[in-house]
Formats: sequence, C-alpha cells, structure tokens
Amino acid sequence: MLDVLGDWRRTNFCGELRAADADREVVLMGWVHRRRDHGQLIFIDLRDRSGISQVVFHGDRAPEAHKKAEGLRGEYVVAVRGRVVPREKPNPQIPTGEVEVLATELRLLNTAQPVPFQVEDEVTASEETRLRFRYIDLRRPKLQRNLALRHKVVFEMRRALDEMGFYEIETPVLARPTPEGARDFLVPSRVHHGQFYALPQSPQIFKQILMISGLERYFQIARCFRDEDLRADRQLEFTQLDLEMSFPVQDLIFETIERVLERVWKALGLPISVPFRRMEYRDALERYGSDKPDLRFGMELQNATPFFETARETLKLQGSVRAVVAPGAASFSRKQIDEIVELAKSHGAAGVYTVKVTAEGASSSIEKTIGAEGLGAMVKSLGAKAGDLIVAVSAREERKDYDPALLIAGQLRLALADRLKLIPQGRWEFTWLTGFPLFEWSETEKRWVSAQHPFTGIIEEDLGKLESEPWAVRSKGYDLVLNGVELGSGSIRIHQQEVQARLFRMLGLSDEQARHRFGFFLDALTYGTPPHGGIALGLDRMVALLAGEKSIREVIAFPKTTAAQDLMADAPSTVDPEQIDDLGLRIKES
Ligand code: AMO
Repeated sequence: MLDVLGDWRRTNFCGELRAADADREVVLMGWVHRRRDHGQLIFIDLRDRSGISQVVFHGDRAPEAHKKAEGLRGEYVVAVRGRVVPREKPNPQIPTGEVEVLATELRLLNTAQPVPFQVEDEVTASEETRLRFRYIDLRRPKLQRNLALRHKVVFEMRRALDEMGFYEIETPVLARPTPEGARDFLVPSRVHHGQFYALPQSPQIFKQILMISGLERYFQIARCFRDEDLRADRQLEFTQLDLEMSFPVQDLIFETIERVLERVWKALGLPISVPFRRMEYRDALERYGSDKPDLRFGMELQNATPFFETARETLKLQGSVRAVVAPGAASFSRKQIDEIVELAKSHGAAGVYTVKVTAEGASSSIEKTIGAEGLGAMVKSLGAKAGDLIVAVSAREERKDYDPALLIAGQLRLALADRLKLIPQGRWEFTWLTGFPLFEWSETEKRWVSAQHPFTGIIEEDLGKLESEPWAVRSKGYDLVLNGVELGSGSIRIHQQEVQARLFRMLGLSDEQARHRFGFFLDALTYGTPPHGGIALGLDRMVALLAGEKSIREVIAFPKTTAAQDLMADAPSTVDPEQIDDLGLRIKES
C-alpha cells in the first residue's frame, strides 16, 4: 500500500545536512539508494539531486516506520520525517557523513522495479542499455552534474549577453533549407501536398534578416538539425550559442565572445585570460597540420623536405616531407612504431620515415637512401635530441589548395603526444583562426563549394579574383578553437546583394536556382542592409570540454546513438498509414 505525500514539505535536500543541523527535525524526500538491514536497525541511504543522507529506522523507537522500512527496495520513492543526530562513526567519504537522520515516520510514495544498472558514477552497463533506460541513467550523479553545469553555462551566457545589449529572439524551426553543408531534415506539409519545410541547419538566414530589420544585436540558444554522420562530437540535433550584430569590426565580435566565455569560465571557478591568441589558418596548417590546433603542447611540425631532395626520384616523392619530433619516443617498441606508421598510412601517407635518436647517434632505414650525412643534418636541423623519435611523412598526391603531408603530420603530432602523455589536462588554450580560403574544391561535385557557408564575407582586395582565381580568395570567416576542438565559427557577412548574387553563381547556382532557394533573402538584402557579422558556438562541445567528457552524448539529456536513434523513445518509428496518406506521401518498397 502506497502512502500519499499529504501536506508534508521537504525541509532539506539530502545532500545538505551537516553537524550543525544536529537535533533539528527534518523532512527528506528522495530515492532509496541502498538499504542495509541489521534486524532491529535498518539503514537507508536516501538520495536526491543534491546527494545522500543516511536514515536509521529503530525497531523499538519507531516500530511502525521500522516495519515499513523492511519492505523498502532500491529506487523506491519515500519521504522521511526524523531528527538529525551525530553519527557514532562518521563517514568522511560523503559531505553529510557526520550526521544521520533518526526516522520517526516514513511515507512510501512509490515502488520501483529492479533497475538494470546501479545509480552510481561508475557503471558497467553498455551505452546502449544506458540510453535505453536514460531516465535511470540520468539519476547518476555524474550526469546530474553535467546537466547542472550545462544549465550554469547557458545561464551565464544569457546574463553576459543581456548586459551587452543583446536580445534573445527565437527563429522558426519549420522553415526553408539553410545551407551549412549537411543534408536537410524535411517535414512534409499536410496542407500543401508535395511541399516541405526544412528544419534549420542553423538560424543563419533569419539572424541576418534580423540585422536587416534593425534589431542590432541578436542571440539565441538555438537548436540546429543536420542529417550527417554522427560521431562523438556530432549529433543530428545540437545546440548553438548563436549571435549576430550590426556594424561590427571583427574585433568587436571577438571581444563579445571573449567576454561571454570569460564570464562562463569564471562562474565555474576557472580563470582564463583574454584576449585569446590569434592565428592565421595557413600558420595553423604549417605549424600544427590542422585548422583546429591543440595548443596545450608544442611538438610543432617541421619541414624536412630539403633532406629528401636527393632521394626524390628513388622514393617517388610527391610534394613535401613533414616531420614531428616526439620527445622520449626513441624507446618505442617495434610494435608501437608500426602502429604509428599504420596510422600515418590510414591518413593518406605514401612514405613514413622514422629515425631513432640515441646517445650513440641516429639510426634509421632511410639512411641508405639519404646518406649518413643527410640524416645527421636532418637530425640537427630538426633539433632532435638523444631519446627522441623523428617521424617524417610524405603524401600520396600534391594539391594546389593545401599540402596533404601537413595534415598527416598533424594527426601524428596528436597521436604521439597522446601516447607520450604530453597533453596537459586542466588547461584552456583558446585561439582565433582567421584568413580562411573562401572556397574549397569538391572532387565529388567537381565544383567550388563554400569553405564555411555562402554568406561569408570576402576580403575586399580579393573580390576581383572571385571568378578568375577562386582558390586564392580569402574570406572574412573565423573559427574559435579550444584545446584542439572547433568550438565555433562565424564571419563578417556579405551585405551587398550584387556580391551575394555573384557568389551564388560561383557556387554553380543559376540565377533562377538562386532565386528559387534564396529569393526572399536576395530581396531583403536590397532594402538597406547594414554591414553585419556574427558567430555560433557549439554548446554541447563546450560543455563536454568543461565536464571533461569525450562524447557530447554525456552532456545532452536525451541524445541519439551513432546509428541516429533515440533508444529510449524508440525514434525514428513507423507511423499510421493514414498519417502518411494525409501528407500526400507514399512509402517506396525497399
Ligand atoms: P558551424 O556550422 O560551423 O557554423 O557551426 C557552429 C558550431 O556548432 C558546432 N556544431 C555541432 N555540434 C554538434 N553536432 C553537430 N552536428 C555540429 N555541427 C556544428 C561546432 C561548430 O563550430 N551559421 C554558422 C555560424 C555563423 O556563421 O554565425 C554555423 O552554423 O562547435
């Protein structure tokens, strides 16, 4: 028989009680975390969001409550009235460990089936089981902390932006496609058969229109939808801190974001220094082999090409040779080195050359090809010391827009530092990246595509090269990188209609196609559009970094699996044939 809550009110959360509360009469409510039955004495650990308190039921002092407590099981929901008393044997492991609650009354509010895994930080259950029973998974203290952290982050963002005069404005979820480079989620219209809404890949066009409308400063904690392959740092629906401002220089946007993040980090007791450093995209590639360099450690890439020139024919070298010097890695086993070579090959390396440097000198199979002198000169020039391992790579092909050997070496830099445990934890290395190319060449589509999105502004002096040398045109885009993760991306936008129309043409859209897809926007641009720009930060990624989680699924209440499913709600799912019919659709037999 269940009890009713009646007029009981909770006086305290379970995690709050301290020695100073001794003798107080309290009412606690929560879940039975654990129960230990010693006959006349029954102990339960009572848990709520804030933590755990020990409650004791005495057979002789409170027989009725004691009797009821005999029937309690894990995850039953109860309310307890009692008196706080000091514990005979304090438990230093928990904050409430100095006291316990001597129960006088117990109300059993609900029972629970045996749970599929324990409500503890460490569980052995698979992620699949955890996601299927997400309502239980979310009771685990770690996930509760992650969601509390997420709340705090968003709350501080809102406060900081409000102070800077930003309005939070909602934009539609049912709209037209926004090009951000992913596939759209389409929603069929019931009223207009054959027509579809698209879920926004981002609020990009709407936020630009808000600037045209004179709102000046907009932000939104915006849900975005992208039908793309999922990974640890990607979800089908994810959240951005999205903002846009009118009449900005790039620095104003950078300062705005720096203020927001400084505020968020400070609220979490993590001081960071602003302004963040800045780096040109080309430099990041050259020095770190990545457009999202992890600056928590050095190991910058070096150019080893000159030492391989004499062997260019023999080795059939294409392009450059880039090297990483891994401190202390000369002691790597054959197997460890083979793994590194395999990794390089999986990233597209043609040649991988390793050199062990020891007190006796350098040894490498490449010595035969480049000569002892060449090898010695390379070791010296790269600054490798006894105990170091040099890994040099060449790529399978040469490209005009970037050097693929750099990207391979960049991957090796990360893998080697990780294996050597050279990446310090608890450091926050932010950097702005600028100077991106406007276009990337798409091999599959055989055309130029936007490196960011087609509304990204163009450096004025490069406008003349738009049609003639598209690869050399630089954009007004920027990225914000944190510890090797792309946290955000934005740009100063195109605000002149003619430039926007020219860009669409360059992207292979005919004027008719551009009108069909973006006509309303091209029109809006002609009604007095101020210069404007903005940025969006990936909220899930930011919170995951702050929480020290590898996957953003750990900071999203109800995430999808990498197979794009919600295992708890069992979505996606089939629907009634009538619903399909109402929408004017027919499902193709597969
Ligand atoms: P972009 O597409 O770069 O820019 O997205 C901005 C940031 O959002 C995060 N992000 C994601 N997080 C989780 N799952 C995903 N699938 C996912 N995709 C992106 C990343 C990324 O840096 N409209 C532009 C912004 C602008 O120009 O103002 C935009 O959406 O952290």
